Amino acid sequence: MSDDLSPAEAAKSAAALKASEYVKNGMKVGLGTGSTAAWLVKHLGERKRTEGLDIVGVPTSTRTAEQAREEGIPITTLNEAKWLDLTIDGADEYDADLALIKGGGGALLQEKIVATASDRMIVIADETKFVPQLGAFPLPVEVLGFGMHTTQLLLEEMLEGLDVTGTKAVPRMTDGQLFVTDEGNHILDLHLGRIGNPRQLSLVLNQVPGVVENGLFVDICDICITGHSDGRIEVRDATSDDAEASERNVFADLAD
Ligand code: A5P
Repeated sequence: MSDDLSPAEAAKSAAALKASEYVKNGMKVGLGTGSTAAWLVKHLGERKRTEGLDIVGVPTSTRTAEQAREEGIPITTLNEAKWLDLTIDGADEYDADLALIKGGGGALLQEKIVATASDRMIVIADETKFVPQLGAFPLPVEVLGFGMHTTQLLLEEMLEGLDVTGTKAVPRMTDGQLFVTDEGNHILDLHLGRIGNPRQLSLVLNQVPGVVENGLFVDICDICITGHSDGRIEVRDATSDDAEASERNVFADLAD
């Protein structure tokens, strides 16, 4: 690992490097979006050049598609690929059940569709992303532009009755303009503070007209790989049937 990396980047790179070991020849792989997923694409590009790794990637954003092309990784669309072997992506928060908040980078819609269309999803993160309870990170919700201020009011009203601490829905801005997603929609960031029941909240949010999708990923992630700045990594595998082994594997240090 390069000494030039900041501790945070070293941690992200370590997690992404470990995740890249799950990628095998012939796989169709969902490529996530964000600074941690960018390390994955970089490591896969390296494997492509050094070992001729033979995969096809399905990017979850225009940014990731561009990077994959630069790295020489062949890409296709989800429509072409239909179903994927594996998706590897970052997260803004994850809890002990491997429920996630995603969408800090605004790509939650494609990320959720791609992850759901995969046999397995691996999340890669640095240690700051683990939380005992989701909600400190504002929950991104992708909404249609049509009537979005009404959608905002409906969401805030609905949140009053749910197990959350805050109810504010804030339109995401960039350079003084509403943020526009790859699908031409906008994002409302929900400042919830604490999410008591992520599964219920995810279902209820998507009932509000104008909501396209929300950034809660519940029962989608199978494995979480956490990287540390000193190069150590921890793997939590939610799919392990062996409770004892699973317990041992939870945050087991695999670097030794
Ligand atoms: C992109 O929309 C997000 O879901 C990212 O995957 C998430 O924000 C994590 O990004 P970083 O790896 O940059 O923290």
